[in-house]
Parts: sequence; structure tokens; C-alpha cells
Amino acid sequence: MTVSAPQPTTLQEELAQLKKDKNAVILAHYYQEPEIQEVADFIGDSLELAKKAAETSAEIIVFAGVHFMAETAKILNPSKRVFLPDLNAGCSLADSCPPEAFRKLKEQYPDHVVVTYINCSAEIKTHSDVVCTSSNAEKVINSIPPEKQIIFAPDKNLGKYLMQKTGREMLLWDGACIVHEAFSLDKMLELYKQHPSAKIIAHPESETHILKIANYIGSTSGMLNYVKGSEHDTFIVATEAGILHQMQNDVPQKTLIPAPAKEDNTCACSECAFMKMNTLKKLYDCLAKETPEIKLSEDLMKKALVPIKRMLQLS
Ligand code: 13P
Ligand code: SF4
Repeated sequence: MTVSAPQPTTLQEELAQLKKDKNAVILAHYYQEPEIQEVADFIGDSLELAKKAAETSAEIIVFAGVHFMAETAKILNPSKRVFLPDLNAGCSLADSCPPEAFRKLKEQYPDHVVVTYINCSAEIKTHSDVVCTSSNAEKVINSIPPEKQIIFAPDKNLGKYLMQKTGREMLLWDGACIVHEAFSLDKMLELYKQHPSAKIIAHPESETHILKIANYIGSTSGMLNYVKGSEHDTFIVATEAGILHQMQNDVPQKTLIPAPAKEDNTCACSECAFMKMNTLKKLYDCLAKETPEIKLSEDLMKKALVPIKRMLQLS
């Protein structure tokens, strides 16, 4: 994979001006389209984006990511206006955990500490004791007194990985990421045969059989840092394909191979349809027209802030 320096488009230039005029900041996740990443003030993993959202002095936050990320930014900044280019940009993990069913589970285990992965709705966060992301999950689990039992939701794959890493038994919610569950082990082993010097890197939302063959497991930022710091020059990358843009920018001389999905798709890679709902045009329109906006009740924000703050204190 090779990259050439992109030229700013008119829309990108207009967006840059609009941002200045409105004192707005654009926060983008690594899974966003390259042209969106290029106009962002900050690109990061879920934890870094939450931290940036907590720190920003801008009056407006435009979140180029998915709904739960923009919600988290709003919860951290109740007095600021937060926009998401497409309100339908959801997440299969967040969708897998409806509040009513989760509340019922919690009622059955009133003494358990509830740890929720940040990929869940604000309402689920109100039922949590502490939130975590893929980059601090181990630390968060280890911070819970050993005599306490834990409910972990909504990602069962991350949960299984954490049980193995920390040695803690946890009650897991049965949720998964459609993108990270799409990787084919057979195709990956076949690919590895063709590139025997490659290092396999995987996001912990991937299934156990994929994680077992990975040389490195970590968040999107963790994967980027690993590739940058590694002496190796070929990597099979098991996460959403959007990360390849920043990764290739960081290591232009290295070979990056997207992990193949079970289904045959033309680019032989996995893309998150939710993340890809945002486009540069929608991003521009959203800031220009100041819609769609994330709106949450004061009460919901107050309650959801507690477990998010606990996570930030631990990080
Ligand atoms: P991180 O960027 O925190 O690793 O999360 C990946 C992800 O799936 C976001 O939805
Ligand atoms: Fe959710 Fe998976 Fe998309 Fe991340 S990649 S936003 S976890 S569906």
C-alpha cells in the first residue's frame, strides 16, 4: 500500500474556515474516511477522544465518529454544543445492550460491580460503576477489589480477553462488534503463509481464535504505536480498515495488509458501515447548519458522567 500527499479540496478548505469562524473543534476516530481524518483537529482512539473532549476550550464539538462517542463528548461538556454528522451512525455493540434487559440482569446480581465498555449508550452508562475503553480496560478491571464480582458489558470478546489477562471471572453480556467478528481465521492463516515474516496485530474486540494468533493486541492507538515502534516491516492488521490511512502515513515504508473478512468483499477488508455513514459533505453541512445535534437530559448526563469520570481518573 502506498500513499501520496493529499491535496486539500475546496470543501476541506471551506470547512477549515468555518471551524475558525465558529470556534469549533473536529474530533475524529481512526475509522473515519481519510478525507475526514485530514480535516480533523485531533484523531485518536476512544480514550484519547474522550480526553480531548474533556479538555477542549472550543465552543462547538463536531464528532466524526459514532453516536456513543459524541454522546460521551456531550456528557463531558454539558454546556457545549456537540454535533454528529449522521445521527444513524450507531454501533452494533451499543445496540446489543438495550437498557431494560440490562437493568434486569443487574437486578439479579445486585452485589456485582458493573464495568461497561465505552461502546454503549448513555443510558447503559448510568447503570455502570465504571466505564473502560480497549486501552485502559485491564487497568480498570485490576482496580476493582479482588473479592468483588464483576458484570462486564457489552462486548463478550473483549470480556473474554480481559478474563484471560486479569485472571478475573466476570459475568459477560452477549454483545459483539460486527466488524471484528467478521475476520476469517482460515484466510488469515493462508495470508500468513504468504507473508511468514509478518506480525499479526489485532483489536481486542476480535474473537478469541484471532487473538490467539496475534503478536500484539491493543486499541487502535496501541496498534499504531506498536507498528511505529516495531523493527518488523510487514503487518497483518485485524481491525477496521480505516486505521490503515493513519498507519500508512506513520510508516510509509512498511507493508500493511488488512486482515481478510469471512465474506468475500472487493477490498478484502472490513469496514464499519456505521463509521462510514459520516462523509466530508455531511461533516461540512453539520457544522454549517448546526444540526444534527446531540441532546441529552440533564439528569441522564449527570448520572452517566459518574462512571466516565471514574475511568478518566484511573487513566
Ligand atoms: P478504540 O479506538 O478505542 O480502540 O476502539 C475501537 C472501536 O471499535 C471504536 O468503535
Ligand atoms: Fe461499533 Fe464495531 Fe463499528 Fe466500533 S467498529 S463502532 S465497535 S460496530
